[in-house]
Amino acid sequence: MIGIDIEKINRFEHWTDEGYSRIFTDNEIKYAKSFENSLERFCGFFCAKEAFVKALDDDGIVYKEIEILHTDSGKPYINRTKFIDSILREKHKNQIDVSISHCKEYAVAIVLIE
Ligand SMILES: CC(C)(COP(=O)(O)OP(=O)(O)OC[C@H]1O[C@@H](n2cnc3c(N)ncnc32)[C@H](O)[C@@H]1OP(=O)(O)O)[C@@H](O)C(=O)NCCC(=O)NCCS
Repeated sequence: MIGIDIEKINRFEHWTDEGYSRIFTDNEIKYAKSFENSLERFCGFFCAKEAFVKALDDDGIVYKEIEILHTDSGKPYINRTKFIDSILREKHKNQIDVSISHCKEYAVAIVLIE
């Protein structure tokens, strides 16, 4: 199962902290805000969440339930919470891969569920 999403960075330009915390987890907010180009990071996370929903073909998922973390090398992954694990079990899948890229104008992400 595969999903992809692309978004314009400026979509996030006028978001308030309250807006961020509706969609993004505390870890994601802390990560994005630790960079100068935090909007690119938020946009990348958003794309990853959309790509995950597309891969699952399930639009009933609350975006905050999907958390993107990073390995020590910086590679992103989706946090295997009980909620995510239960969804994967339901779909008889056990592996999720995510890749994110961003520049000044756009972010893109792809998710593969196997
Ligand atoms: C990881 C790397 C490929 C990112 O590429 P980039 O063009 O700078 O930036 P992109 O916008 O395409 O990608 C950034 C995203 O890559 C992802 N990423 C970072 N490190 C990663 C890694 N080790 N593996 C997979 N993905 C990684 C992250 O999701 C990051 O976005 P985020 O931190 O907001 O989540 C690059 O920075 C890197 O480390 N390259 C190492 C090899 C190298 O420098 N070679 C030089 C050859 S001359």
